[in-house]
Amino acid sequence: MSDAFLGLRSEYASRILAPELLDADPYRQLSIWLEEALDASIVEPHAMALATADAEGQPSVRMVLLRGIADDGLRFYTNYASRKGQDLAANPRASICLWWGLLERQVRVEGTVHRLDPAESDAYFALRPLASRAASVASPQSREIGSFDDLVESMERLIEGGDVPRPPHWGGYRLVPHSFEFWQGRPARLHDRFLYRPTEEGGWEVVRLAP
Ligand SMILES: Cc1cc2nc3c(=O)[nH]c(=O)nc-3n(C[C@H](O)[C@H](O)[C@H](O)COP(=O)(O)O)c2cc1C
Repeated sequence: MSDAFLGLRSEYASRILAPELLDADPYRQLSIWLEEALDASIVEPHAMALATADAEGQPSVRMVLLRGIADDGLRFYTNYASRKGQDLAANPRASICLWWGLLERQVRVEGTVHRLDPAESDAYFALRPLASRAASVASPQSREIGSFDDLVESMERLIEGGDVPRPPHWGGYRLVPHSFEFWQGRPARLHDRFLYRPTEEGGWEVVRLAP
């Protein structure tokens, strides 16, 4: 067993987080941090781990791309028949986690997932390059396949055909959050953590969590 990581210890000391530095609206706070991650030239700053669980409660997690932030939820796109799609059909609760190492920041969001209206999925699908559209039609995501060459062949046939409309099994979801947590790394593991939770009046309150 490798112990190469045993002595690896980064001290997080570049920033602090405090209530007066947080926007009252967690969606705006997430947008601000994403923009700062973009400005810091972080690779794929919108990549996030998406955790789902199946009907038996077995969790699974994978990366997806955050494609939109709006007051009615955080958008991502995938194959509805994939493992995550099947999990979400059985159990719509999910959580996401973003980590920007350069900024020593983590964001966690928990909530309930809903499929987007087909028109919104169509609009996003139309923005994708032809090869990506063809790949999402050709690939039975998460299923066992015998041959990579067959996959490439069916994708190429679709590309030759020219027009590739969105198939019904591919589209978007919005995660409607019931909590957000913003985490800033601090020295000696005494990190700053702030949880946004809903108030009875329909707003958000912010509380500090122990690291
Ligand atoms: C950085 C990154 C971004 C990804 N973005 C997406 C995405 O937006 N949608 C998607 O379906 N898969 C995306 N993937 C692939 C997924 O991680 C995963 O392999 C795939 O969705 C199948 O997951 P599942 O079998 O759990 O459904 C991404 C992978 C990485 C590493």
